[in-house]
Amino acid sequence: MEIQGPKMLNLPKFPDVRGNLSVIEEFRQTPFKIERAYWIYDVPGGEKRGGHAYRKNEEIVVAMSGSFDVVLDNGKERVTFSLNRSYYGLYIPKGWWREMENFSTNSVALIMASEKYDPEDYIRDYSQFKNGIL
Ligand code: TYD
Repeated sequence: MEIQGPKMLNLPKFPDVRGNLSVIEEFRQTPFKIERAYWIYDVPGGEKRGGHAYRKNEEIVVAMSGSFDVVLDNGKERVTFSLNRSYYGLYIPKGWWREMENFSTNSVALIMASEKYDPEDYIRDYSQFKNGIL
C-alpha cells in the first residue's frame, strides 16, 4: 500500500447493535510497519499538541473518543483534517509540520508510528522547517 501525501483513511467498520468495531492491520491499512503506538488524552480546553515535523517518522492518527483537528503544513500548503469518527485514520507522511488542536472534552488520540521514539527525528523550529533545513 503506497500513499502520497496526507490522507484520511476510512478504516473498516463493523456496525453492530452491541456497539461498533473498527480495526487496523499492519500493511493492510498502514503503508508502514507499526513500531510504536502512543496516545494523547486529558488535554485541557484550548491546548494544542504537536508543533513539529519528523524527518523520518510516519504516523496514523485515530480519534478513539471525541474529536480534534490536525493541521498539516509542508511549507507550501496547509490542510486541516477533522478527526471526529473512530473509523477515520489520518495518515501523515514524514516531513509535514503538524499541530493538533480543538480537542473536545474527554477526547483521546491514538497514534501509530513507523519509528521508535527518537528526539533527533524532530524538527521543532518552524523557520528551519520552512527553509528545508533538515
Ligand atoms: P511530544 O512528541 O513533544 O508531544 P506532541 O505529540 O504534543 O508533539 O512528546 C511529549 C513528551 O513525551 C516528550 O517529553 C517526549 C515524550 N515522548 C516519549 O517519550 N515517547 C514517545 O513516543 C512520544 C511521542 C513522546
